[in-house]
Amino acid sequence: MVDGTVGLGGHARLVLERIGPDGRLLGIDRDDVALAVARERLGPAPLLRRGDFRDLAAIAREAGLDRVDGVLLDLGVSSPQLDEAARGFSFRQDGPLDMRMDRRSALTAERVVNTLPQRELAAVIRDLGEERWAVRIAEFVVRRRPLRTTRDLAAAVEAAVPRAAWPRDIHPATRTFQAVRMHVNDELGSLDLGLRGAMEILSEGGRLVVIAFHSLEDAAVKRFLALESRDCVCPPQQPVCTCGHRASLRILTRKPLRPTPDEVAANPRSRSARLRAAERV
Ligand SMILES: C[S@@+](CC[C@H](N)C(=O)[O-])C[C@H]1O[C@@H](n2cnc3c(N)ncnc32)[C@H](O)[C@@H]1O
Repeated sequence: MVDGTVGLGGHARLVLERIGPDGRLLGIDRDDVALAVARERLGPAPLLRRGDFRDLAAIAREAGLDRVDGVLLDLGVSSPQLDEAARGFSFRQDGPLDMRMDRRSALTAERVVNTLPQRELAAVIRDLGEERWAVRIAEFVVRRRPLRTTRDLAAAVEAAVPRAAWPRDIHPATRTFQAVRMHVNDELGSLDLGLRGAMEILSEGGRLVVIAFHSLEDAAVKRFLALESRDCVCPPQQPVCTCGHRASLRILTRKPLRPTPDEVAANPRSRSARLRAAERV
């Protein structure tokens, strides 16, 4: 099986227990720090590869796995990424504007906030952050260029959003940080390609499980599963099918699974998680 977001190996450890000594697990992560922790925690049992799950099928084949019985994607950032100020993911701590999961990649948050044209920056914040103050936030960011630290970005957002409109339950910069992070790491692009890659290598009866923390990601997963579980995807007004599309998945979760109140109490960051699963047919 493939864990496309092995992170610190929490899920991988449980998977290893269940697949036993004859099972094989490939863990992928694009963060070298996470992978080093996973390597130490999980020992030699799993194959571990640094890479983006957008290349899931190629990485699996290269590791000798042509067919697998399961693919797991636990999307987003890990707690250590959020908590380490130097990674620049958090507005709660001052750090460089980085936000790259893969530190080999050239695009940093600093480059995004300082070089993207104002209109494009507003579109990123609006579309990926679902932020209604996006236009004003982009305007304030551009006016304050160059921004160097996470505090600079948070302060620009705080100044842009009128106090009366600050959200009650989250910091006013939450959505902007999320949007910039998703853009820096092209998270929706990876998700789209990763889901397709999973279909290439899943064997019949194999399962695809995706945990999303963001409504746009969950919507993309839902759409993908809905499309791949239908025999015909012609427009409804068309009397005869011409697409020839055949269902390749059976959805196992009509509604996404949500964490229980106990899980949320033990791990507050799980509160927005939604798990969807499907079986290859
Ligand atoms: C929520 S954490 C996963 C935690 C993991 N399931 C565990 O039990 O420790 C998400 C992880 O996925 C990684 N990641 C996010 N997008 C990725 C991508 N496109 N390709 C590979 N890894 C990715 C992040 O670096 C992070 O370590």
